Amino acid sequence: MKYFLDSGKIDEIRYAYENYKIDGVTTNPRHIKESGKPFLTVINELAEEFKGKDFPISVEINPHLTQAGDMIAHAKELSQIAENFVIKVPCNEQGLIAAKKLEEQQVRTNVTLVFTASQALQVGRIGAKFVSPFVGWQESAGVDCSEFMATILETIANFGFETEVIAAAIRNGNQLATYAAMGAHIATAGLSVYKESFEHPFTDKGLRFFADAWDQTEGN
Ligand code: E4P
Repeated sequence: MKYFLDSGKIDEIRYAYENYKIDGVTTNPRHIKESGKPFLTVINELAEEFKGKDFPISVEINPHLTQAGDMIAHAKELSQIAENFVIKVPCNEQGLIAAKKLEEQQVRTNVTLVFTASQALQVGRIGAKFVSPFVGWQESAGVDCSEFMATILETIANFGFETEVIAAAIRNGNQLATYAAMGAHIATAGLSVYKESFEHPFTDKGLRFFADAWDQTEGN
């Protein structure tokens, strides 16, 4: 399973790229806001940092847009900034119409805010590059999304769609492992989620035992 970093902060994106082998970035208006910088500053920084690299960066269109034509116009504007930009459009009727037309014109799309398998089915049918079921949001609200994800993965595989499934808004290591075992193609999560998933209190405890043994060994 590929790891994408869900962030708009260039420092943490650089850190995760250099140290965690992340495979791409997903941003959204909330992440951009949290960076404390203007939208265009952030996306230009990302474009410059990963220029010429095989490293997809998902950038979301203005969420106020409601009509496919306006979504397409903004998506095209953003896609011209960098070759590796993948444009996020919302999963509603107008967003899916926009994504279909953008894919036909070689603008790659990530259809976001997906909450049902029927939404994901249409994303696959129109050939979007990524589909982002927001499993983390639902699981934070107490909904187990295993069956939801299994249905999406089965549907995408059944019809040989090339769309890659991103388990989005992942909040903990258990979700990472669960969706990896199910065969989700990609997970996207914040830096702290990945960091915590690499660690365990027993690892720390074991390390203290070993350090004590080391200290008590003659000659050390
Ligand atoms: C994915 O592409 C989304 O940006 C993301 O997973 C939403 O996560 P958030 O709840 O951290 O904003």
